[in-house]
Amino acid sequence: MNSKEIRARFKSYFERNGHKIVPSSSMIVKGDPTLMFTNAGMNQFKDIFLGIRKPESLRVADSQKCLRVSGKHNDLEDVGHDTYHHTMFEMLGNWSFGDYFKEDAIRLAWNLLTEEYGIDKNRLYVTVFGGDPKENLDIDHEAENFWLKYVPKDRIIYGSKKDNFWEMGDQGPCGPCSEIHIDLRDDDERAKVAGAELVNKDNPQVIEIWNLVFIQYNRKADGTLEPLPQKHIDTGMGFERLCAVLQGKKSNYDTDIFQTIIGEISKISGKKYGQDNKTDIALRVVADHLRAVSFAIADGQLPSNNKAGYVIRRILRRAVRYAYSFLDIKTPFMYKLVDTLVDLMGDSFPELVSQKTLVEKVINEEETVFLRTLERGLRMLDTEMDKLKSEGKTEISGVQAFLLYDTYGFPLDLTELIAREKGYTVNKPDFDAEMAKQKERARNAAEVNTDDWVIVDEADCEFTGYDSLRENASILRYRKVVQKNETLYHIVFDRTPFYAEKGGQVGDKGVIVDGEKRIPIINTIEEHNLRIHVT
Ligand code: ALA
Repeated sequence: MNSKEIRARFKSYFERNGHKIVPSSSMIVKGDPTLMFTNAGMNQFKDIFLGIRKPESLRVADSQKCLRVSGKHNDLEDVGHDTYHHTMFEMLGNWSFGDYFKEDAIRLAWNLLTEEYGIDKNRLYVTVFGGDPKENLDIDHEAENFWLKYVPKDRIIYGSKKDNFWEMGDQGPCGPCSEIHIDLRDDDERAKVAGAELVNKDNPQVIEIWNLVFIQYNRKADGTLEPLPQKHIDTGMGFERLCAVLQGKKSNYDTDIFQTIIGEISKISGKKYGQDNKTDIALRVVADHLRAVSFAIADGQLPSNNKAGYVIRRILRRAVRYAYSFLDIKTPFMYKLVDTLVDLMGDSFPELVSQKTLVEKVINEEETVFLRTLERGLRMLDTEMDKLKSEGKTEISGVQAFLLYDTYGFPLDLTELIAREKGYTVNKPDFDAEMAKQKERARNAAEVNTDDWVIVDEADCEFTGYDSLRENASILRYRKVVQKNETLYHIVFDRTPFYAEKGGQVGDKGVIVDGEKRIPIINTIEEHNLRIHVT
């Protein structure tokens, strides 16, 4: 089965089981200060779980574009080095909004894997939440009992809060979860060590494929858990991992999703996959990052120097650096791969087709500018080594290596590689110390604290901007946001003439007048059809 068929089978199975198939939401999150990128399929349904928005259908399913490169879920540094993590990946999911719960979620997942896709039952293991005394939460015996209908007891493993209590971020809907893992090892290895012992132990051949979350709580800003009025199902299956399993591969990068792109990079670089570990890592990094960057741009996030734009820029630069160091590619090339990506994924994600020209242009420009910076950094490194030589020294200082990293985008291994070739070393402990200082600075600057909404009134917000520029309005809800030590308020009114920031449109600014008081509105943003005024 190729990846397109696997995706289609998932959707048709859930459709047959009463689910409405919905499109993936954008990978770029606007208007939620707790999140920059979509990091799970459930993000677009967050307000339904919290009871703020009503669902169109009680059962839905989709394939969601996700990006895990910042915040609570961040896999960036693993990507390329292992064979089963990605920056951008597709999460196949099914949801029940107050409809079915654990029993049916388990049945639906098990039948899809073992009957529809025909996966060998003997290779599957499941985990259930083992409880957490500090949170006052019990072992999930309920889920365990439903699993026992399909799986023998020795294949059910109790997991800790870290692995089996799922949360989208520091705040928001959450609950105990049950994961399905698969053991892809050869028979002789499986005979030696039972798969159950390797679950959640970072073994690349014993991996999680599906997570079933039983959403029952809301994690509040003060850290407490508040039970939700209804119970919901939120599941997420790694599409690329599923494809590897069904195509009999041991690495996601050996599936049709990645092999076509890797083949193109090989043509450009002349380096083949599967011959050298460093080259393979670089090929995987480029193939993965191409997807993340292309989808981000297609969804409207251009690379830039701050916030989400900076994260995208860093991902692109990481790919260029790997290609420069290990694939010997010194000129822009990633933009040439967009064509192949569009051929592969354009059917399922039409935004990639419509934005193709923009994506190619932006990637080409970014590559060109960054390669120039890399060249400048190389010259600076040469000058430094000449200076050291004249002083009879051979060690490049940590401060100098960090300057190259921070200003010119040179990772330490690139500086070390060039230094070594010319007989120099780099002071790594000092470099690490500089890096730690910078992380602390960044952490202080990036901290965003969002309080829970304070609900004043449950009404809907009416937009009156086509006819008027001012309005008498009352507050429906508000929350406090502290960002870079600045305190802002998000306010939703019952009626407003203000346009929200959306699809490239800048949000309206203005003023709230209350008696003598005039409070500036510095932006208007939109979140799930709510117009939020930022004051
Ligand atoms: N929201 C769950 C996850 O991302 C399904 O793992």
